[in-house]
Amino acid sequence: MIRKILFLVLLAVFFIRIQIFSQQLLSNIEGRNITSLNGKWEIIIDPFNAGAGNWKSIWKDQQPTGKNDFYEYKFDKTITLNVPGDWNSQKPELLYYEGTIWYKKTFEHKKNGTKKYFLCFGGANYNVDVYLNNEKIGSHEGGFTAFQFEVTEKIKEGENSIIVRVNNQRREDQIPALNFDWWNYGGITRDVYLAETSSYYIKDYFIQLKKDNTSQIEGWIQLAGTSSPKKISIKIPELKTNYDAETDADGKAIISIHAKPILWSPENPKLYDVIINTETDSIHEQIGFRTIAVNGADILLNGKPIFLRGINIHEEIPQRAGRSYSEADVQMLLGWAKELGCNFVRLTHYPHNEHMIRLADKMGILLWEEIPLWQGIQFSNPIILNKANTLLDEMIERDKNRCAIILWSLSNETSSSESRNRVLSAMAAHVRALDPTRLITSAINHVKYEKNQVTIDDSLCNVLDVMAVNQYLGWYIAWPAKPENMEWKSLFNKPLIMSEFGGEALYGNHGSSDTASSWSEEFQEQVYKDQLAMLKKISFLRGMTPWILADFRSPGRLHPIYQQGWNRKGLLSDKGLKKKAWFVVHDYYKELQSK
Ligand code: GCU
Repeated sequence: MIRKILFLVLLAVFFIRIQIFSQQLLSNIEGRNITSLNGKWEIIIDPFNAGAGNWKSIWKDQQPTGKNDFYEYKFDKTITLNVPGDWNSQKPELLYYEGTIWYKKTFEHKKNGTKKYFLCFGGANYNVDVYLNNEKIGSHEGGFTAFQFEVTEKIKEGENSIIVRVNNQRREDQIPALNFDWWNYGGITRDVYLAETSSYYIKDYFIQLKKDNTSQIEGWIQLAGTSSPKKISIKIPELKTNYDAETDADGKAIISIHAKPILWSPENPKLYDVIINTETDSIHEQIGFRTIAVNGADILLNGKPIFLRGINIHEEIPQRAGRSYSEADVQMLLGWAKELGCNFVRLTHYPHNEHMIRLADKMGILLWEEIPLWQGIQFSNPIILNKANTLLDEMIERDKNRCAIILWSLSNETSSSESRNRVLSAMAAHVRALDPTRLITSAINHVKYEKNQVTIDDSLCNVLDVMAVNQYLGWYIAWPAKPENMEWKSLFNKPLIMSEFGGEALYGNHGSSDTASSWSEEFQEQVYKDQLAMLKKISFLRGMTPWILADFRSPGRLHPIYQQGWNRKGLLSDKGLKKKAWFVVHDYYKELQSK
């Protein structure tokens, strides 16, 4: 009985914590009146997290006054980190650092009493506490989603001081948990802005084509800061749309606009200027309109079957061995995908920075986006579902107007169990309630191997629109039969994306094509040739994302010669150089495009 009461108390505390600190997003930050806070931030490295308590209280940023005063910490302009940016790639002593770092930034502000102000973070890994002028304004959990805090009442005329505590220690009740196959980059890894809005403002909006309807634009506009109905307008000049509506007492206006936009597609990534106005606020967006659906084993883009020529991409610049965070970074990554012949990218294993999503809209690259529910997750812990749904909320709230995204993915390689199926099914329902226009998938890796037969029988597929399988035949698993004789079956009449396959090779290392321990380009090339011989025969295959575009860093990759802390499954090396396997995929995608 006591355990049950304790459990309920824990759950209540967690809910209260989430309610106090999880913030509804102010969407489209870059479309607003913003001041960048990017640049050099002073730091204090605090491995024992000593500064969070009452003893050192680094967030108070105290300066000695009397003769007996002293503090065993001090921010100093000579000890800094660049924001945005992970700390691991900025200082050699931080390469493997897992702990707390305190950041400080001051900025001048000219107050305008009729305006509202928000501190907006594109992302920081993993746990964050934010202080303004030495007063806590909020916390955030999760390394890859945006968060912000209203600071209207706390910002002051003249100099303001932001202090941020970031801790990237791994914990079993976090998402991801203790073990994952990428570098645990810590820090304020994405842009930081101060946003200004009018007293009542456009907080959020959803403007997309109605599901399966190419001439009806639907959605909603959400205002904040007002409890009386307000007039709003939506202009789409190229469609000669000038739509007026009025919000209800909750500040929401449902929209339904009859229009026949040119449909967005990889071949023609048409984006429309959309201007949303109230009497005191105005936001400019660029939105593409397309439909996405499944029909049996087909994926339909704008009503036509499509095959997804994809690739997996981590949010990392290999040459810099650090997190990607800028427009220049994403230009390079998506430029590489385009050169490979892709019309599709799986953003692994977490939501990427917003520049990546917006550039994919512009370049016509379809996207799969996911939260980092990766392998060993504590599904039996009741707070995991809340944390997962919060991450889904933050991912979908930020990116729901980006037409490039066609798939929301729930998890990666989680083992079938009662608790896992219950949590993932609940998450699927949560996603559908948030966004009924897109498809849901989840990368599974437990399929049934019986000689040359592979059967997809994971019951999770019942709640998915598109099945996705990660398999490493020819690398982790020896071929049970000739690749061309492998037969894939499914218990579900749904499309399949082969969401991971491949093998490792050190660029420039040449050797036999039939010995894995050669780590040769020739062996990796043969893995791809064999994989394609099998994939071509899967009747319900509608897409593939080889693992992975470029070599990436991972602490678990320990071979002293061939890996040195890098996962070498890239088609490109850690310098962006093409391995032999790159040409196998490139030539196949070219063949598919010629059909
Ligand atoms: C898994 C996992 C990846 C990992 C890959 C590998 O399928 O999803 O995150 O990097 O295998 O072992 O290289």
